[in-house]
Amino acid sequence: MTGKSTYLKLNNGVEMPALGLGVFQSSPEDTVGAVEAALEEGYRLIDTAAAYGNERQVGEAIVRSGVDRSEVFVTTKLWISDYGYDEALHAFDASLKRLGLDHLDLYLLHQPVPTDFDGTVAAYKAAEKLLADGRVRAIGVSNQSEQHLTDLMARTEVVPAVNQVEIHPYFNQPALRAFHAGHGILTQAWSPIGGITVYRPADPDNVRNALREPVVTALADKYGKTPAQVLLRWHLEHGVSPIPKSVRPSRIAENIDVFDFSLTPAEVAAVDALDTGVRGGPDPELINTTTHPKRVEN
Ligand SMILES: NC(=O)c1ccc[n+]([C@@H]2O[C@H](COP(=O)([O-])OP(=O)(O)OC[C@H]3O[C@@H](n4cnc5c(N)ncnc54)[C@H](OP(=O)(O)O)[C@@H]3O)[C@@H](O)[C@H]2O)c1
Repeated sequence: MTGKSTYLKLNNGVEMPALGLGVFQSSPEDTVGAVEAALEEGYRLIDTAAAYGNERQVGEAIVRSGVDRSEVFVTTKLWISDYGYDEALHAFDASLKRLGLDHLDLYLLHQPVPTDFDGTVAAYKAAEKLLADGRVRAIGVSNQSEQHLTDLMARTEVVPAVNQVEIHPYFNQPALRAFHAGHGILTQAWSPIGGITVYRPADPDNVRNALREPVVTALADKYGKTPAQVLLRWHLEHGVSPIPKSVRPSRIAENIDVFDFSLTPAEVAAVDALDTGVRGGPDPELINTTTHPKRVEN
C-alpha cells in the first residue's frame, strides 16, 4: 500500500500530503469505514478535530488499516472551550489519548476567538511548547484572517505552518492566500468542493452547488473527470491542500484520483471567476464561547 497524493513542504520542512480526507459531520459509526477506505485508496492525511466527536474512530481505523503510523499524517484541532495555556495542554493529551497516538502530525487552533484573543494566544503558546517537546510535528491555525495572523505572529515565536480556511470556487480568498504565501503559511481548504454551500445553504430555495457550474462540468467533460475531481485539481494547481469529506467509498476513491491530469492557467482562472467573495460558513469574527457554547469533554 502506498500513498497516492503528492506532498507539500511545510515551513519547518515537514512534508504533508497535499490531499487528505476530512471527517467533519462523519458520524462515529461512519468514520471508521471512511478512514479505512481512504487509507486503502492511498490517502495518507486525515483531518479531524476534538469538536467532531470522532477522534477515537479515526485512531481505530488507522490501526485496522494496517498502514504504518509513520506513513499517516494526522491532523486534529483544539476547540475554543479549551483555549488558555494549561487548558490547551490538557486538551491535547485528551485528543492524543482518544486517537490512541503518541504524537500528532499537525495541531491546529480550530478558530480565532477575537473577543478573547489573549486566550487564543495562550493556546497557541501551548502548541509551541508541544512542538518544542516533539509531541507534534507542526502547528497551525484555522479560520484566521490576515489581521488575526498578524496579531498572533506579533505575540508568538513560531509562524503557523498551516491556516485551514473555507475555500471553494464561490469563496476563494485570493488576498488571504497571497498573505499566506508571503509569510510561508500553507493554505489548506475546507469545504473544497463547496460542501458548505450545499449542506448549509444561505438560501435553501436557491442552493449554489459548485459541482453543477457549467465551467466545472465542461472541464470535467474535457478531461474525462468528475466535477469534484476538477475542483480538487483546481486547489492543487493553486498550491492549496484540499481535504474533501465523504463517507462513501466510491467518492473517497474518486476524490483522490486527481493526480493524472492538470488544468491550464486559463482553466484555473475560469474557475477562480466563480468567486462571489461571500463566505458560506460562520464569520470567524463572531466566534466565541457565547456564540458557540459547545464544549469538548476531556
Ligand atoms: N476548520 C474548520 O472550521 C472546518 C470547517 C468545515 C470543514 N472542515 C474540514 O474540511 C473537510 C471538508 O469540508 P466539508 O465537509 O465542509 O465540505 P466538502 O468536502 O466540500 O463537501 C463534503 C460534502 O460533499 C459530498 N461529497 C464528497 N465527495 C463528493 C463527490 N465526489 N461528489 C459529490 N459529492 C461529494 C459529501 O457527502 P458524502 O459524505 O455523503 O459523500 C459531503 O456532503 C471536513 O470534513 C473537515 O475535515 C474544517
